[in-house]
Amino acid sequence: MTNEVPWGDTVEVEFDEGIAWVSLNRPDKRNAMNPTLNDEMCRTLDCLEADDRCSVLVLTGAGEAFTAGMDLKEYFREVEATGSVTLQRQVRRASVSWQWRQLAYYAKPTIAMVNGWCFGGAFTPLVACDLAIADEKAQFGLSEVNWGIPPGSLVSKAMAATVSQRDALYYIMTGEPFDGARAAEMRLVNEAVPAERLRERTRELALKLAGLNPVVVQAAKVGFKFAAEMTWAQSEDYLYAKLDQARVLDPENGRQQGMSQFLDDKTYRPGLGAFDRAHA
Ligand code: COA
Repeated sequence: MTNEVPWGDTVEVEFDEGIAWVSLNRPDKRNAMNPTLNDEMCRTLDCLEADDRCSVLVLTGAGEAFTAGMDLKEYFREVEATGSVTLQRQVRRASVSWQWRQLAYYAKPTIAMVNGWCFGGAFTPLVACDLAIADEKAQFGLSEVNWGIPPGSLVSKAMAATVSQRDALYYIMTGEPFDGARAAEMRLVNEAVPAERLRERTRELALKLAGLNPVVVQAAKVGFKFAAEMTWAQSEDYLYAKLDQARVLDPENGRQQGMSQFLDDKTYRPGLGAFDRAHA
């Protein structure tokens, strides 16, 4: 493990064959997200976006937790105790910045690897990541009602974007915990696997994504996310614009190559499997 982040130790980054494994690193506090961690994650994501060693980003947690959510002491109690609305606005902005805005539209594919406790505020970066794989025994919970607060930040929005209203309201209103297998059943995560397979399965998926055309994958994911919130007419215009944009930005000219491989050379049939640039 190499710590490539020079500005603090609440985040750890390890590079491995195009994958940046980014660990929230406050294991003694179950990786609870305090203002320091939020600031460091903002900078880490900025930095990795421009780093060629990162083709795919995996977000996970050090030790037993993915993250136990917002730090109840440092993010809530201590900030509220200052009475400063300005400070509260600043810490909220940094939190939402990396947990949603930066991650959701990130220039590279992102996978949340839920290795353990995943509570409250954890649901925002979990859902902002494009894909998610969980340890089948990892414990999830929307525990906010236990603290006398409704789920804040973008937690409820994240639930609405992924699971059905019945399941979302059940867990939001009762605060009952559930495991990774249940999270997969509800489609909060893509799949749940035994703990001993978690890293291997995540790596396999990350390498598959790393083998695809990065410009096109980015356009496809961002196109989906924005179109989900647009009308049909807006989506038609936007998605065609996105397609044209990808053609202009793609140095590999993947569209042209793909057409030739199928129509002229007859070397590749998409219906028989995903393309892999490394073995093309
Ligand atoms: N905010 C602040 N500190 C937290 C925290 C949080 N969300 N979650 C855990 N911690 C701290 C604990 O206070 C404890 O600190 P201490 O050693 O100084 O006493 C340390 O992390 C370890 O936590 P502990 O509860 O002893 O670990 P555990 O393994 O027995 O239990 C959890 C883990 C996740 C089940 C438990 O810590 C928990 O329920 N945390 C709160 C989860 C939550 O409701 N999050 C939503 C916030 S809105």
